[in-house]
Amino acid sequence: MDRRLAHVREVTPGARTVAERAGGTVTRAFAPRAGAALSGGRGTVRRTRWILALLALSILLVACSKSAPQNTMNPKGPTAQTAAVFVIVEGGILLISIRFRHRKDRDRMPPQIHGNTRLEIGWTIAPAIVLAVIMVPTVSTIWQLARQPADAMQITVEGYQWWWGFRYTDPDMTVSYGDHDAIVTADVMVIPAGRTIDLSLTSLGGGAHSTSGVPDHEVIHSFWAPQLFGKQDVIPGETNHIVFSADEPGVYWGQCAEFCGLQHGKMKFRISALDEADWQRWVANQKDPAVKPTVGAAQQGMDLFFGTNGVGGQCIQCHGVGGTAASSTAAPNLTHFAATTHECFAGCDFQVFNPDGTPNVEALKAWLRDPNAVKLGAKMPDYGLTEQQIDTLVAYLYSLK
Ligand code: CUA
Repeated sequence: MDRRLAHVREVTPGARTVAERAGGTVTRAFAPRAGAALSGGRGTVRRTRWILALLALSILLVACSKSAPQNTMNPKGPTAQTAAVFVIVEGGILLISIRFRHRKDRDRMPPQIHGNTRLEIGWTIAPAIVLAVIMVPTVSTIWQLARQPADAMQITVEGYQWWWGFRYTDPDMTVSYGDHDAIVTADVMVIPAGRTIDLSLTSLGGGAHSTSGVPDHEVIHSFWAPQLFGKQDVIPGETNHIVFSADEPGVYWGQCAEFCGLQHGKMKFRISALDEADWQRWVANQKDPAVKPTVGAAQQGMDLFFGTNGVGGQCIQCHGVGGTAASSTAAPNLTHFAATTHECFAGCDFQVFNPDGTPNVEALKAWLRDPNAVKLGAKMPDYGLTEQQIDTLVAYLYSLK
């Protein structure tokens, strides 16, 4: 018997009868028998190929969209520069798949080398040597990445369902009032451009639904800003690190990259990198306590927020406002809710300002009216506020510059 046929028999016992019926040659064993059924099958294959090609093309074209703020191929910091690796690996895969693809005129079995001891020993040892060589720069890079630079700005990233909190744990980033605690923001992390930032990431509990101190938000998240750094897991009870910097001032979009519940897909954040002058202004403002309006709707909203006149007071169960009695960390800190750098709220699902810079009152109203209606699963309850109460709360929140 033909040696090649023997091999086919060994791997695909089902092929035996076909091959033998076809007259003994392996080539014919794989050739389709004449018949409408099979040529119909080929048509389906061709159609499927077209659909796949169109699908791939549309995905490729979507990637060309100008408004793609989370583009890994457009790195804005040293930690995100991985394009060369991508191009080399993907280029290699493409080259090999095209160069060695199946061709019609090459309808034959490749040489069978089963049982060649010398070759088998060769291709066992060669990869081992390659891996051993690659290990040297890999291990040294791992150590280098794990090193926390002493002069880096320290920020703790806290993952909640479904928003991100940022605690500036650097010694000179404390507020000027009370116990001089760390500056805290939510949804938007503001950093100085060009400075190395050392993030400590952890997942915390809290929220309106937690009872008797049992947190209900402790799930695994993943922190990812494609233009600045890769994904890093955010795990309850653990502290992971990301060391990065942003080359230029700008706003970089990020989002949670680990399924963490209903609103995982909308657990977004922004990193706003400022130049030195803007950064100093931002820090000075953050060190100040929250504004306390003394007249009008804003003051009425503040009274409702704190429950000063016996009405309301639910907000301070979860939200903190710097320099006031509201000190809870269970929900986003609102001290400087309306600062121009605070672009978004509720997991960055809503813009604080309209494109023309005016307050995005409608979004905040909708959120206060019924959080779950605009963001399913939101931990903030619907307090059944009246339209008039909502107006005063909006006025208060937009006074918190
Ligand atoms: Cu947090 Cu997904």
